[in-house]
Amino acid sequence: MAGGRFVLLLVIMNVPWSFQTSDTVNPCCYFPCQHKGVCVRFDLDKYECDCTRTGYYGRNCTIPELWSRIREFIRPSPAFSHYILTRFKWFWDIINATFIRDTIVRLVLTVRSNLIPSPPTYNSAYGYISWEAYANVSYFTRVLPPVPDDCPTPMGTKGKVQLPNSTLLVETFLKRKRFIPDPQRTNLMFAFFAQHFTHQFFKTFGRMGRGFIKGFGHGVDLSHVYGDTLERQHTLRLFKDGKLKHQIINGDMYPPTVIDAPVHMIYPESIPKEKQLAMGQEVFGLLPGLMMYATLWLREHNRVCDVLKEEHPTWGDEQLFQTTRLILIGETIKIVIEDYVQHLSGYFLKLKFDPELLFGVQFQYRNRIAVEFNHLYHWHPLMPDSFSIMGQDYNYSHFIYNYSMLTDYGVEALVESFTKQIAGKIGGGNNLHPHLLYIAAGVIEESRKLRLQSFNEYRKRFGLKAYKTFRDFTGEDEVSARLEELYGDIDALEFYPGLLLEKTHPNSIFGESMIEMGAPFSLKGLMGNPICSPEYWKPSTFGGETGFNMVKTASIEKLVCRNVKRCPEVAFHVLDPEPGGRHPSREKKSGDEL
Ligand code: HEM
Ligand SMILES: *[C@@H]1O[C@H](CO)[C@@H](O)[C@H](O)[C@H]1NC(C)=O
Ligand SMILES: *[C@@H]1O[C@H](CO)[C@@H](O)[C@H](O)[C@H]1NC(C)=O
Ligand SMILES: *[C@@H]1O[C@H](CO)[C@@H](O)[C@H](O)[C@H]1NC(C)=O
Ligand SMILES: *[C@@H]1O[C@H](CO)[C@@H](O)[C@H](O)[C@H]1NC(C)=O
Ligand SMILES: *[C@@H]1O[C@H](CO)[C@@H](O)[C@H](O)[C@H]1NC(C)=O
Ligand SMILES: *[C@@H]1O[C@H](CO)[C@@H](O)[C@H](O)[C@H]1NC(C)=O
Repeated sequence: MAGGRFVLLLVIMNVPWSFQTSDTVNPCCYFPCQHKGVCVRFDLDKYECDCTRTGYYGRNCTIPELWSRIREFIRPSPAFSHYILTRFKWFWDIINATFIRDTIVRLVLTVRSNLIPSPPTYNSAYGYISWEAYANVSYFTRVLPPVPDDCPTPMGTKGKVQLPNSTLLVETFLKRKRFIPDPQRTNLMFAFFAQHFTHQFFKTFGRMGRGFIKGFGHGVDLSHVYGDTLERQHTLRLFKDGKLKHQIINGDMYPPTVIDAPVHMIYPESIPKEKQLAMGQEVFGLLPGLMMYATLWLREHNRVCDVLKEEHPTWGDEQLFQTTRLILIGETIKIVIEDYVQHLSGYFLKLKFDPELLFGVQFQYRNRIAVEFNHLYHWHPLMPDSFSIMGQDYNYSHFIYNYSMLTDYGVEALVESFTKQIAGKIGGGNNLHPHLLYIAAGVIEESRKLRLQSFNEYRKRFGLKAYKTFRDFTGEDEVSARLEELYGDIDALEFYPGLLLEKTHPNSIFGESMIEMGAPFSLKGLMGNPICSPEYWKPSTFGGETGFNMVKTASIEKLVCRNVKRCPEVAFHVLDPEPGGRHPSREKKSGDEL
């Protein structure tokens, strides 16, 4: 390398070191180590790839060991697996009734989870294994280390010295022209569940800068119901029978006002305190959809407390509260796997929440939220042009921070309206409402500050092939040509634009990468919860068989219908219009394939 010789010359000439480094490209900027090999820099211009336990060897960890060669040969491609899993309903109906279902679900869970390092490795400040990165849980973790600071381009060595203007990117490629409905028929009930559920662990800590997380739960801890500090929890609690504070309006239970439960909530100043509702997550006043879910979980908590107290009259407030919290955590995981992920995956394989599936395999019951997972989950294209509540249309300025809508309409009417309204398709581009463009620009800007590696490096990290051309990536000519012009090199394409602009699977909400990268984070986060561990997963943890069964039989429909007076239509996708037609359209579609 010319750079190397130049440095050697400088050394001979005895020029100060600081001068020399500026001219030597850090060899790790080339990302030479393949198959999860770790790049370590030696001297100025030397590097070594640590290929330990990667199954590969050689300078760049590119030569497969025998078993890797065999595995490479027999492993179905992710695209093939996806194809099989989302077709042939008749086949999966047979599998569902056999023990093979357990085997396949176990395989899905382990293969996905194994892609997530556990214990966690890097964070935005530490691109190498360190005690600080392990122990300081104020950071989001990182699956791939940051691009080294001294690289010639933001993506290492590929692409231009300056990345495309983020505003230009979102205006050109993400901005909605005409609403594109999701072909999987995802509805707003799903969209608000997604936002509500994930905001218990996606809480970027603005005050500490990007790369930091607020709260230390790093997973499904229901801090969005109970608060992320003990103080907040105590302020929200009634300290009677394990229950949470609440108020009754029109005969129904709602969260208390911030006067009754003085916790910090983010609301515009114009909204009087007696109208501001208090919840675990301070941002949930933003949308009636979030307040609706907060209300449902509040009612569920207080309902479960009653059931437990009935069975355990000797238990005090604290034990009733704590046990109820564990039951609600279990219900959440059950609903997320069997209703939410089931819908999102489009799989005909019936997923199953059964922690015992993992008892015979190696699995770490821990989790750390990654910044990549956070970025990936910016699913704002789900949001429609306007919100239709009982036939009445509300635009963004009427809907956002509308504090009275929840109590005006009540939970039933909102559930029914959100179930009926289709959400936007997430992948494929040009489907983000103009009001939300700035958020996408913000993610892109943040990813640059945090020096996220390129989309193709992430593809490789998650077992996918790097795209060779932009044409290959979008599957068309126009957008790919514009992207190429802006980025210069497919290996310089960024993470978030990559996820949103990739060609989508046929009739799917997004493309291959969102699934292959999102599913591992998601399943690891769900199954890595302590309640799924052998020590916890037993009736006594949940107050006996009654509580254990509540966890094992939870569903989104029950969450709603056990907590309202009139059970409305409830699902995570738009249902067929025919009267009595409760079956998802997907199932009908699959019939055609027979
Ligand atoms: C009208 C509806 C929505 C509005 C107005 C909205 C608004 C926002 C805003 C202002 C931020 C903070 C951005 C920043 O700090 O740079 C944010 C973050 C985020 N939003 Fe949304 N959002 C909406 C719907 C959704 C939905 C449906 C999802 C689905 C999953 C979602 C997922 C996220 C995520 C994951 C973050 C990052 C949170 C964090 O790290 O703190 N949002 N949103
Ligand atoms: C290893 O990677 C570097 C950087 O990408 C490349 O220049 C070199 O030729 C590779 N060496 C081998 C043996 O593959
Ligand atoms: C799958 O099998 C379970 C029992 O093993 C049954 O309860 C369920 O209804 C079946 N689901 C489908 C879609 O066939
Ligand atoms: C984590 O690191 C940040 C930045 O160095 C520091 O401000 C913070 O106090 C650390 N947190 C803990 C819990 O040590
Ligand atoms: C990006 O372009 C917009 C106008 O399209 C401009 O206002 C903004 O300053 C540019 N941002 C940067 C970082 O250059
Ligand atoms: C929402 O609708 C009202 C009138 O119905 C209008 O005054 C307002 O400008 C609209 N806001 C947006 C953001 O479209
Ligand atoms: C909030 O929603 C209600 C309907 O529940 C509507 O009457 C009201 O105008 C909305 N408020 C604002 C500020 O748009």
